[in-house]
Amino acid sequence: MPDQHAKIGIVTVSDRASRGEYQDLGGPAIADYLKAVLTSPWTPLAKIIPDEQPVIEQTLRELAAQGCCLIVTTGGTGPAKRDVTPEATVSVCHKLLPGFGELMRKVSLEKVPTAILSRQTAGVCGKALVVNVPGQPRAIRECLDAIFPAIPYCIDLLDGPYLTTDETKVVAFRPKKK
Ligand code: MTE
Repeated sequence: MPDQHAKIGIVTVSDRASRGEYQDLGGPAIADYLKAVLTSPWTPLAKIIPDEQPVIEQTLRELAAQGCCLIVTTGGTGPAKRDVTPEATVSVCHKLLPGFGELMRKVSLEKVPTAILSRQTAGVCGKALVVNVPGQPRAIRECLDAIFPAIPYCIDLLDGPYLTTDETKVVAFRPKKK
């Protein structure tokens, strides 16, 4: 029986936020979203790190080893030289879940034409689902709204805790057992 108290990693990937030159808005936007949506018990493990691939990889591996069932990264998904969050994600995940990135780009494209600039992806690192979202708080909410219905069932399949949601905000979809 998995530990039913979920640990959720929230990783802000930003050179400027990690140096304290810029207030981290992305991490708190993810935490606020999860607070509003999740009705099952959970604890955030939040990190603010620079856009350095080895640091991102180490952080994802540590959070997975600490028992996070879900790790949401924000930032570093674009085409700029320092944007390497998807590369780090692909490198630490033994399985990729490209549908997450495909869906986030699809819904985001209805909002902004620059949605195609995000290379955001997702995968499984140990028993943790790792999901990349862009850095803008508005983008975070738009992306999480799109993918969250599938996240609790994905975590069931990874033998994680049973996540429940406030159904006025997000309805978790779990296929009926045959
Ligand atoms: N997706 C949504 N939903 N809303 C947005 O405003 N911004 C785009 C894109 N995806 C955006 C979005 C832009 S302008 C960029 S450059 C990429 O995400 C990458 O953002 P990142 O480098 O902060 O990860």
